[in-house]
Amino acid sequence: MNGSIGAGHSAIYPGSFDPLTRGHLDVIERAAVIFDRVTVAVVVNPQKRESLFTLDEREAMIRRSVEHLPNVAVDHFRGLLADFVRHHEATVIVKGLRVVSDFENEMSTALMNRSLSGVDTVFLPSDPRWSFVSSSLVKEVYNLGADVTEYVPPAVLAVMLSKRPAPRPNER
Ligand code: PNS
Repeated sequence: MNGSIGAGHSAIYPGSFDPLTRGHLDVIERAAVIFDRVTVAVVVNPQKRESLFTLDEREAMIRRSVEHLPNVAVDHFRGLLADFVRHHEATVIVKGLRVVSDFENEMSTALMNRSLSGVDTVFLPSDPRWSFVSSSLVKEVYNLGADVTEYVPPAVLAVMLSKRPAPRPNER
């Protein structure tokens, strides 16, 4: 987009997206305004925990959720993010910051990624509406029976509802 601060830049927005939340989607929409092109890069095996959704499910849910954004693509990667960034000749990594404590981890990660790939990370502050919404919290409350309509895009909600285990009678 000519004249915007990120004009000429191709951005990578990496994450586990297990699943994509409305907070993630907000970051993608804002990044798509700033940068010429945004690739949402889904990590194949999230390191932190077992994933609820398969890679195919995570990618498909994101694709449906970004259909309205013509300069956004969805891809996946395994191994080092820095290798993926170099391979795609991306010029910037985008990360969202929900709370101040996110910054501690993200700062060292950004410096390591810049050291490995020469590519800088741009942080976008989360919209306050979504600052408490994380994939792990969404999964936790969903697994305990909560309505998560407010926290995930409709395409994600549809898949989550189809996966919800039927309530077991007489469960104690
Ligand atoms: O959504 P998440 O779980 O916070 O995403 C974390 C992710 C996927 C961005 C991060 O774990 C990652 O980049 N993994 C790839 C492996 C890698 O490059 N590690 C070194 C980072 S300095």
